[in-house]
Amino acid sequence: MVIPKHVAIIMDGNGRWAKKRLLPRVAGHVRGVKRVKEIVEHCSELGIRYLTLFAFGRENWRRPKEEVSFLMNLLSEQISKEFYKLHEKNVRIRFMGDKTRLSHAILGQVKDIEQLTSNNNKLNLNIALDYSGTYDIVQAVNRIIANSPTQPITEEIFSQYLLSYPDPDPELLIRTSGESRVSNFILWQLAYSECYFTSKLWPDFDKRALDSAIEWFNSRERRFGMTSEQLKK
Ligand code: IPE
Ligand code: IPE
Ligand code: MG
Repeated sequence: MVIPKHVAIIMDGNGRWAKKRLLPRVAGHVRGVKRVKEIVEHCSELGIRYLTLFAFGRENWRRPKEEVSFLMNLLSEQISKEFYKLHEKNVRIRFMGDKTRLSHAILGQVKDIEQLTSNNNKLNLNIALDYSGTYDIVQAVNRIIANSPTQPITEEIFSQYLLSYPDPDPELLIRTSGESRVSNFILWQLAYSECYFTSKLWPDFDKRALDSAIEWFNSRERRFGMTSEQLKK
């Protein structure tokens, strides 16, 4: 069994999970957070080196104010409770996204935990927060212009300006909840990812479900433009 080095997940379906149970949407977010904990631990056990989770997209600010503030409070609580425990488990935590719209309090927590865990090396956990793939590309372009406006850009140089740098690109993308779209998550970095779409809602995505996704990944032939025959040689 090949264990992918980097797995990226669009954790979707919390609202529908709650609705099915006649609960408020936010109850689904609370359940979703429990799965985050389980999946992070399982990735670490499996020897996955990088895990990128889409926690809150730039477009998610469009949600009702109450839901946004519930999500921000939940995040803040997770950082102060669970993320410090992850530090003890040698997990390195980084946040990627446009940090300008986050509250001072959360920004402070984000910086502290990033700094605290910066030398850890078991699992690299990236939380995409106020992130979008189009934003990532545009911020890269702007930083390139500011740094070296006349230098010709190569794909290699460009990728060094993306927020995910220096992580390798994910081999496996998982999206839960039955939607088969990327919803402005990482774009450039998905160039050759295997994309696994499951109808399971995020609060139901347990460690067995992750094992199934990895099994599926193992059944794929990654050709990178070549033919099957070339690969078999
Ligand atoms: C994903 O679940 C969590 C976030 C986007 C923060 P949703 O809240 O999108 O759940 P659905 O898609 O409405 O079921
Ligand atoms: C994508 O889910 C964002 C996160 C999982 C954080 P959405 O629920 O926001 O995506 P759409 O709106 O259905 O495309
Ligand atoms: Mg959704």
